[in-house]
Amino acid sequence: MNLQTKRLFLRPIQLHDASEIILARGDAEVMRYWDRPPQDSADQVRRIIEHYFAEFESGAVQWWVVALSPRGPAIGECDLSEINRHHKRAEVGFLFRREVWGRGYALEAMERIVAFAFGELELERLSARCHAGNDASRRLLEKLGFSYEGTLLGHVLRDGERRDCLLYGRTKS
Ligand SMILES: CC(C)(COP(=O)(O)OP(=O)(O)OC[C@H]1O[C@@H](n2cnc3c(N)ncnc32)[C@H](O)[C@@H]1OP(=O)(O)O)[C@@H](O)C(=O)NCCC(=O)NCCS
Repeated sequence: MNLQTKRLFLRPIQLHDASEIILARGDAEVMRYWDRPPQDSADQVRRIIEHYFAEFESGAVQWWVVALSPRGPAIGECDLSEINRHHKRAEVGFLFRREVWGRGYALEAMERIVAFAFGELELERLSARCHAGNDASRRLLEKLGFSYEGTLLGHVLRDGERRDCLLYGRTKS
């Protein structure tokens, strides 16, 4: 479903978005705190998008690209994953190209995703997981009303090293 904010247009990701998404997912600085290392080609991003097709169909995942005009190039991406209608919960994710950081786009896009999750999707709980040290992500989650709920020790294996992950969550009200 397409979503809109004052400055942003969010549309469901398509395979052709891979050529812009790679500008974020191929950037080592953007991917510094991601579970997986940077991707090395648009083709690899395309395969990742394809991998999620079944979950888009089942409703377990919704993944948007964020643009400054309705069909403009992707400046970032946001997603809801692990969408569980029975427990009325999901996990949020976000990633933006480095050249647009610090303009409030991530906050603006994610405020809309949170409103969509609690409104249109009728969920009651959202969670997020970020690597220890990802202060920009923590700041964003706190601005979105998420609270720190605990740490998963050594949860992620990245570049041969086990990393701690911080859990954040919020409920509807
Ligand atoms: C996490 C991430 C999306 C945050 O991006 P961001 O641009 O810092 O976040 P925002 O869009 O909220 O921008 C906020 C900053 O812009 C500034 N800003 C400028 N104009 C603004 C506006 N109109 N509205 C709000 N903030 C604005 C704010 O002062 C704020 O700075 P601060 O954090 O020092 O207070 C970005 O760092 C990123 O893509 N990281 C890599 C991917 C990643 O780690 N994802 C998370 C995995 S859990």
